[in-house]
Amino acid sequence: VWSAVPQGPPDPILGVTEAFKADPNPRKINLGVGAYRDENGKPYILPSVSTAEASFVGEADKEYLPITGLASFTSAAAKLAYGSDSAPLSQGAVAVTQSISGTGALRIGGAFLARFYPTSKVIYLPTPSWGNHTPIFRDSGLEVKQYRYFDKSTVGLDWAGMLADIRAMPQGSIVLLHACAHNPTGVDPTQEQWKELSNIVKEGKLFPFFDMAYQGFASGDIARDAFAPRHFVSEGHQIALCQSFAKNMGLYGERVGLFSLVTSDKEEKARVESQLKILIRPLYSNPPVHGARIAGSILNDPALYKQWEGEVKGMANRIISMRTTLYDLLTSTHKTPGDWAHIKSQIGMFSFTGLTQPQTEALASKRSVYMTKDGRISMAGLNGGNVEYFAESVDGAVKG
Ligand code: LMR
Repeated sequence: VWSAVPQGPPDPILGVTEAFKADPNPRKINLGVGAYRDENGKPYILPSVSTAEASFVGEADKEYLPITGLASFTSAAAKLAYGSDSAPLSQGAVAVTQSISGTGALRIGGAFLARFYPTSKVIYLPTPSWGNHTPIFRDSGLEVKQYRYFDKSTVGLDWAGMLADIRAMPQGSIVLLHACAHNPTGVDPTQEQWKELSNIVKEGKLFPFFDMAYQGFASGDIARDAFAPRHFVSEGHQIALCQSFAKNMGLYGERVGLFSLVTSDKEEKARVESQLKILIRPLYSNPPVHGARIAGSILNDPALYKQWEGEVKGMANRIISMRTTLYDLLTSTHKTPGDWAHIKSQIGMFSFTGLTQPQTEALASKRSVYMTKDGRISMAGLNGGNVEYFAESVDGAVKG
């Protein structure tokens, strides 16, 4: 029956982990997937998460959640993104649903727009963008196009190209914006640039669709990292917003996320939420409960929340210290050819190293150092025990 099914390629990001696992070299390093590791290279369970979990394990039932998820979690998560002083939130005008992490939020959003957004079926993504964005939106029923974002020559933002492309989009198009800690480049617009973007998006009557998978990882400050979506909302944009708690709570496998849409009022919100339910029910009925209970407990308990904020800062700071260490090793110790300043200036979990595809392939085959083919490294995979081996390997790959 399946003789005509072609062999598909491995996933560009998750496939790296498969290759890493199959490698017997004890010095191997996985800098592929964006998953935080502690100073010993081990997965990190946030202490706030353990405390939250212990507070209900064995007590809570395993009943189905409503289609849109755990209300105590979804309302607190929306507040975390929009701010407790958000006007549409206090007016009851934000439609929310729990999602299967960030991917699920994007997919629900894509499918909702494909079904109901009246003006366009085209979504524009930055070049480059997270590798899963294109398949998610294509499979949601949208047409995917690109706008310029990253300038290879400066290893920074292609601000002029980005503005020109956004200005040239047909009126009413959907534009995807990474709220903070752009994946894969680690390059974000400044607050001034976000303000200008808000004006241009308004002039073009574009629909701003925010993906916020790394709130807290850009600056180490939860509120500051939400500047872009909050600013857009304060300027009257009715945004779509996707949130993930995979990274900032380390809840990767628990699949905890949120999708929200700002609407005009309570009545419109009710209609939108009714359609979100109709869309979700045939997909997966209702979301998983365990991770949402953990996240909800943290967000709703002031002491635990404060503790969590500190833990997010701790993760962000460890990554920043690895950036400095790597930069110093490449420039001072090895005198590796090239300008490596971007290692320190880029933000969030990733660094877009500028390593070429042949160099990344040589690093994997000769040194058991794994990263995505575009030269992105997850800084969180580096630690005091492996950063020297990594720098020495990069130096060797660059010098050929
Ligand atoms: C990544 O970009 O590495 C993460 O968002 C994990 C994933 O699912 O790709």
